[in-house]
Amino acid sequence: MTQTFKNTLTIKNLEKSFNDVMALNDISLEVQEGEFCSLLGASGSGKTTLLRVIAGFESPDKGSLEINGRNLNSLPIANRNIGMVFQNYALFPHMSVRENVAFGLEMQKLKKIDINTRVNEALKLVDLRNEATRFPNQLSGGQQQRVALARAIVIKPSLLLMDEPLGALDKNLRKEMQAQIKELHKNINATIIYVTHDQEEAMYLSDRIVLLDQGKIIQSGTCKELYSSPKNRMVANFLGECNFIKLEDGRNITIRPESFAVLDRKTSENGIEVTIKDLVFLGSYTKLIGSYNQQEITATFRSSDLNPNIRKLDKVHLIFNKECLINL
Ligand SMILES: Nc1ncnc2c1ncn2[C@@H]1O[C@H](COP(=O)(O)OP(=O)(O)O)[C@@H](O)[C@H]1O
Ligand SMILES: [Mg+2]
Repeated sequence: MTQTFKNTLTIKNLEKSFNDVMALNDISLEVQEGEFCSLLGASGSGKTTLLRVIAGFESPDKGSLEINGRNLNSLPIANRNIGMVFQNYALFPHMSVRENVAFGLEMQKLKKIDINTRVNEALKLVDLRNEATRFPNQLSGGQQQRVALARAIVIKPSLLLMDEPLGALDKNLRKEMQAQIKELHKNINATIIYVTHDQEEAMYLSDRIVLLDQGKIIQSGTCKELYSSPKNRMVANFLGECNFIKLEDGRNITIRPESFAVLDRKTSENGIEVTIKDLVFLGSYTKLIGSYNQQEITATFRSSDLNPNIRKLDKVHLIFNKECLINL
């Protein structure tokens, strides 16, 4: 079995249907060595199915899968050297943290001394050395998920697959675990495919995002590419808020809420006059919701940049720079 962390996954024209639902529709994708690649999409878009096909829990109807040029279609799960982490930690309740993490290595019949060394390394990576003798029910949700992570990385997988691993955690813990996963990725330089429906999480973690909808890849690229140059309205909306505005002169523009500047008078052709419907204070940012020719416009500003005297029902000019418009 190869013991390398780095790998390239090549997926070509994958298809998978369940009865009359096409869960994967002609999926082609390359994941580079060491890349953190996120599958992002709404519920039912095919993310889990794609992970399960890669892991070998489902076989595709069509298409091929390769790791470093080696065809996976006929390779049994046990020989794929893939680590998996799920949303529900799936730990063995009757085993200690150490035993949970050692399990995969015991299955590989490694020497006890080697198992010990590797388990210690893995526990150190997820910062759980002091909890090694505890049982899952004596750990917090975040700690349990770290055990699941240690268990997945201890086998030194060619590929690490994670399916909404932080879905069950509350917001603060999620943020903390996101930072830990990012750090872990740096430390072990693993190739990771990470499933989430949370665009902020995907943007924070990923080198690349693959956006899925109804079993198809809609767009794949860096976070910046998807955010600044979305291929269509669906991508633009998924990656953050977006305004699609029909101007008085008939032009259509697409613009992010943060790309406006607010002024009390018009200073250039590139601006619209809006009536303020609401001002929502969100801490460092304030969201302005306005109306322009019966269209609702959303603009965000740093709270400290906003004139404190502006009020609901005031008319203001939202000015935009041509360079900030999204080409759709
Ligand atoms: N085992 C299954 N049997 C029948 N339909 C399934 C099965 N697994 C997934 N599907 C269907 O395939 C589609 C994609 O599901 P899934 O991959 O779980 O999406 P996601 O993880 O993005 O929410 C959905 O319409 C889902 O109902
Ligand atoms: Mg899913």
